[in-house]
Amino acid sequence: MTRPVLGLVASAAGGVETWLRPGLAEPLARQGWRLAITLTPTVARWLEPQLGELAALTDLPVRWTSRLPTEPKPHPVPDAFVFAPATLNSIAKLSLGIGDNQALTVLGEALGRRAPMVVLAQVGADQSHHPAYSGHLAVLRDAGVAVVSGGPEEVLEELAAVAPFVAFDKWA
Ligand SMILES: Cc1cc2nc3c(=O)[nH]c(=O)nc-3n(C[C@H](O)[C@H](O)[C@H](O)COP(=O)(O)O)c2cc1C
Repeated sequence: MTRPVLGLVASAAGGVETWLRPGLAEPLARQGWRLAITLTPTVARWLEPQLGELAALTDLPVRWTSRLPTEPKPHPVPDAFVFAPATLNSIAKLSLGIGDNQALTVLGEALGRRAPMVVLAQVGADQSHHPAYSGHLAVLRDAGVAVVSGGPEEVLEELAAVAPFVAFDKWA
């Protein structure tokens, strides 16, 4: 039996270094998800001291760079995605289809497939008033993405709503 795969993607928003692992990655792993973790290059640098602890939650490598064309794909295609936290920068790129790093590449493909996806937007007040921001959120929501702005608990709740088909008893 294969466990459902969750693409867990993170970008560089403040506080991620304190809550990503204990607040989100560990609960998701406990729920039974097989985690395919991909980081933006900036947050990979921020999380460098705890990359080993993140990697210990999954049998799949934690990614932040693209593979060479001659290398096999390190991750299987995930059943669902969580993008948390999502910066203004990465939300803009995702809505426009810009895949200039591995995290945005995998999210862009998932959006194209309309894979179940929860995005935890973490933007400051000034950032949220950027004239393009509301349009970028609308693009994501129109594609079926659940955009939330609370915390990791809200992500866990929304994921259960958008990916109910991922019945864990299929691998129990
Ligand atoms: C300490 C710190 C906290 C930050 N917090 C946020 C944040 O909450 N939201 C945000 O959109 N950008 C935040 N930024 C800015 C992003 O890190 C920056 O735009 C970066 O280029 C985002 O890269 P990424 O989207 O590729 O991870 C923060 C930067 C620093 C240094």
